[in-house]
Amino acid sequence: MAKFYYAANWKLNKNPQETYQFIKALKELIPGEKTEQVLLFPTAFSLCSAIEANTVSPIELGAQNIYWEDSGAFTGENSAKMLSEMGLSFCLVGHSERRHIFGETDQQINLKIKQLQKHRICPVICLGEVLEERKSGRTEEVITEQLELALKTIDYKKEFILAYEPVWAIGTGEVASPEQAEAAHLCLREKLTQLFSQEVAEKISILYGGSVKPDNCIEIGQKPNVNGFLIGGASLQLDSFCKIISSI
Ligand code: PGA
Repeated sequence: MAKFYYAANWKLNKNPQETYQFIKALKELIPGEKTEQVLLFPTAFSLCSAIEANTVSPIELGAQNIYWEDSGAFTGENSAKMLSEMGLSFCLVGHSERRHIFGETDQQINLKIKQLQKHRICPVICLGEVLEERKSGRTEEVITEQLELALKTIDYKKEFILAYEPVWAIGTGEVASPEQAEAAHLCLREKLTQLFSQEVAEKISILYGGSVKPDNCIEIGQKPNVNGFLIGGASLQLDSFCKIISSI
């Protein structure tokens, strides 16, 4: 059975002090048995304060992005090696804002995933179609191609997580219907079965992301192939993030 996660993508929000205070407060509010299902992705600058605030807690922390080399003349970048030395175990890869604003390609995403696996960090691989692709009935073709390119020659025995995030639903308030989410997740699960095996595919968590809110998370989260959420806007407020965590 795939593990169910509540992942918070804070994007370029929350400075180190705000991150510290949020995590301290969050730890008091989330039901104990759910703590180890919570994954937080603060900005790189805020990771140290996140670690400081998260002592003796099973909340997991991760970075939003890394470069595919360990070190060198790559001004402005961060490495998987450094993340692992900081004791972190997760990292987002291929978020739609990285793909569309920063021009990240499927090939670069594949390199980053391999680099993360090399350092035993679990990649949370984001993929999803743009509105035009959905309207022209190409959703499944687009996401299976993104998946195949992302996973090219990776070690499937090492853990990874997928996040299906339709680009038209990110930050727009327009959430996918539970049926649309389930159809895309099932398609990804079937592709994973084809690429690896049913046993491997069943263990991989596939999160849904895109305008997840307390009032729409239950129906989506109850779908059999949805194993959690990647939450942007609603994870920035304690109230809405905790409501999502406790409602399903
Ligand atoms: P959103 O962002 O919940 O604000 O739509 C989700 C994401 O970008 O991961």
